[in-house]
Amino acid sequence: MDSLYDASNDSISKVVEEVKACRRCRLAEYRSNAVPGEGAYNSKIMFIGEAPGRTEDTLARPFVGSAGKVLDNALARAGIDRASVYITNIVKCRPPMNRRPMKDEINSCMPYLMREIMLVNPKIICLLGRTAHDTLLKGSFREHMSRYVKRDGRLFFTTYHPAYVIYNNKLKEIFIRDIISIKKMVDAMNNNDND
Ligand code: URA
Repeated sequence: MDSLYDASNDSISKVVEEVKACRRCRLAEYRSNAVPGEGAYNSKIMFIGEAPGRTEDTLARPFVGSAGKVLDNALARAGIDRASVYITNIVKCRPPMNRRPMKDEINSCMPYLMREIMLVNPKIICLLGRTAHDTLLKGSFREHMSRYVKRDGRLFFTTYHPAYVIYNNKLKEIFIRDIISIKKMVDAMNNNDND
């Protein structure tokens, strides 16, 4: 997609409108609302989760339920304003019973995510959990955990899905530490750009 895609004729607002009306896969039958990505359209950091949950499906916004609280807390601890980053998901509609999205559902939704990545053009893409990792990076989730990997000229960072750490304070601290490390990395990249 990278070589053929022309971002100059596209925009995040177009992606948002298309996502809201999307009926490309069976998840459209179950949802109350599609959940487009949200945040700063020129953010240096993009967070990618798995799929909307119940609260997200109701409010049509990503990470606004219990997993969102964990993410918000980590962002606050890192000194990152939520409105300054871009937050999205691998699939934009809630799978029934919060099951994992299926391969064909992920494939149907992938063009939206690819456009979001090209349009926002973040310096760092933070993969929240195994589904986001396995969809976007080849290799082992465990080996990539808490690490940066450069692929196709972009920096990917893998960490836990916030829902996975909710009831485990030790993992929650690792998650917060990871988000702080992203903030430090992006600050260092900004300083280099200004040198
Ligand atoms: N979990 C996700 O992966 N995404 C959301 O938006 C909410 C919960």
